Amino acid sequence: MSRIHLLPDALINQIAAGEVVERPASLVKELVENALDAGACAVEVTLEQGGVRRVRVKDDGHGIAREELALAVMRHATSKLHTAEDLERIATMGFRGEALAAIASVCRLTITSRARGSEHAWRFDAVSGELAPAALESGTVIDCTDLYYNTPARRKFLKSESTEYAHCEEALRRVALARPEVAFALSHNARSVLHLKPGTPQERLAALLGEKFVEHSRPIEAAAGPVRLFGRVIEPRHAGENRPLQYWFVNGRFVRDRMLNQALRQAYADVLHGSRQPAFALFLTIDPALVDVNVHPAKIEVRFRDSQAVFRFVLDAVRRALAPSRIVLEQEQNDGGEAAAAPSESPPSRQPSLSYTAPRDAPGSRTPTYPAAFPSAPAGSRVHDAAAEAAYLAFARAALAPTQGMTETSFAARAKASPFDAPAPTAEFASDDAMATPPLGYALAQLHGIYLLAQNAAGLVLVDIHAAHERILYERLKEAWDRTPNVQRLLVPLVLAVDAREYATWDEHRSTLERLGFDIGALGPGQLAVRSAPALLAQGALEPLVRALLHELSEMPQSLAVESFRDKILATMACHGAVRANRPLTVPEMNALLRAMERTERSDQCNHGRPTWVQLSLTELDRLFLRGR
Ligand SMILES: Nc1ncnc2c1ncn2[C@@H]1O[C@H](COP(=O)(O)OP(=O)(O)O)[C@@H](O)[C@H]1O
Ligand SMILES: [Mg+2]
Repeated sequence: MSRIHLLPDALINQIAAGEVVERPASLVKELVENALDAGACAVEVTLEQGGVRRVRVKDDGHGIAREELALAVMRHATSKLHTAEDLERIATMGFRGEALAAIASVCRLTITSRARGSEHAWRFDAVSGELAPAALESGTVIDCTDLYYNTPARRKFLKSESTEYAHCEEALRRVALARPEVAFALSHNARSVLHLKPGTPQERLAALLGEKFVEHSRPIEAAAGPVRLFGRVIEPRHAGENRPLQYWFVNGRFVRDRMLNQALRQAYADVLHGSRQPAFALFLTIDPALVDVNVHPAKIEVRFRDSQAVFRFVLDAVRRALAPSRIVLEQEQNDGGEAAAAPSESPPSRQPSLSYTAPRDAPGSRTPTYPAAFPSAPAGSRVHDAAAEAAYLAFARAALAPTQGMTETSFAARAKASPFDAPAPTAEFASDDAMATPPLGYALAQLHGIYLLAQNAAGLVLVDIHAAHERILYERLKEAWDRTPNVQRLLVPLVLAVDAREYATWDEHRSTLERLGFDIGALGPGQLAVRSAPALLAQGALEPLVRALLHELSEMPQSLAVESFRDKILATMACHGAVRANRPLTVPEMNALLRAMERTERSDQCNHGRPTWVQLSLTELDRLFLRGR
């Protein structure tokens, strides 16, 4: 047996580095946070090869005195914490005195710094321990090169350059969001990527999350005692259109917190379709004594003293911010929740039928009276959405066009090209021949673009078109998962402008995408070309589908196999592939849907557990009219 012995310092630092330095992005985070703690007004980040070759952070903060340079890279050396009481009220980003020591143990690190008031700067080389005079106008430059040069085993865990770069950029964005008054610049491989001028929180949000996010989101501003919440949350109907940007900050620190996310999810619960994700950037400030940031070495988790109180406060503040959409809420309630199935379409044609806008708690509003329950506007006054109409016409033409090599009249060809991929009997079929009526009957009409009405032996069948189609696609995709997918080549590749994160996700998950039936190649940095797609989905809108998929994949924890995400990924694909509400369908298409439902297992429930169809028997109808039979 070997004897117990104390580990050498260098080894202890390397062990600690495992927690603090996960990848180049960790260097960006720690070094930029140090710059901010030093009171910097401008921070410049220079990366090479995704940060693996170099991460250099320059600031104009107060600098480090010559005699403290060597100390800065020692473990547990910090200028930010003095007593145990300090630990109870942390106001700086750093306090553990670990980052520089950890970083210095896994790369070649030099610090050049000029403390305020000193005649010139000094440069400290952490590898050789050398200290020499240097030239620097002010502030500090920390230069880290060759990450993991001395720990090759860890080097192997690094991903591609583009992936590592994307994480670095994201790390900087997170810090920059919380500090709009500081200027930030980022360059990668000598190319300037980001340039953020100091500005208002609003300007910083727009610069980093896009004007669209600001336009489609609501402001939040709430305070209660020691807690304050501000920021923006996406309007429910815009949720999920873009990859969700979700940022929680507690006292200026980006955090992941289940309780905060839970509060947010609950605030959106009535208004958001299950699989959609709200985008938000929320900043919570709280008396530092009421929150513990010393939970995790990377300080990405926090613990609230009274998490129930914070939960209720956040829930209430977000709910109130979303409240002006009460009208929408009422409408969705009247619709039995259908509108929530496709919030992004927010069908304009249904606006006129919105006949009561009384607040929820007004007397009598719970049981709508006649004027409320009936559409107040005649059907003719529907607002016409030209774009939706054109989109549908293109879809229908594509869906019903004969496939190549078959004659125009070929029934099989039509059936094959139908979006529901099933034989499509004609309407005449429906009128007689009750004996042969299939279980779900034959289509009669489409109601408000949402429901399909069909007649079967028992009476009337009502089908939620989107939900039913989604379910069918989902079941088919599941079947296809274990086989080679049926792939359709696109005549014209779909070119997508992507951001660094989407690009990196594509790069990392190529084999999964291929397995799903997508052939996607790169045209250059920031551009992808979709050359083929799964045949089941190729007729739908591919761009949002591919984006949603990339987003889904980027959220996958690396430690889990794709298999464990199969259902989630396929559900996303099905949702995007399914016929959207408000798309008129032809009678043959509707019949095809009914037949496909009959042939699909579990087709009577949508992926979110709601029914996809209901039967109203003749007896039930008779009862509605007090008709004795
Ligand atoms: N950019 C910088 N400007 C001024 N001082 C710095 C800078 N970076 C690090 N330091 C000093 O080095 C010390 C150690 O840094 P670090 O290891 O990150 O620990 P911590 O930030 O937790 O104190 C800090 O407490 C600070 O005094
Ligand atoms: Mg630090």
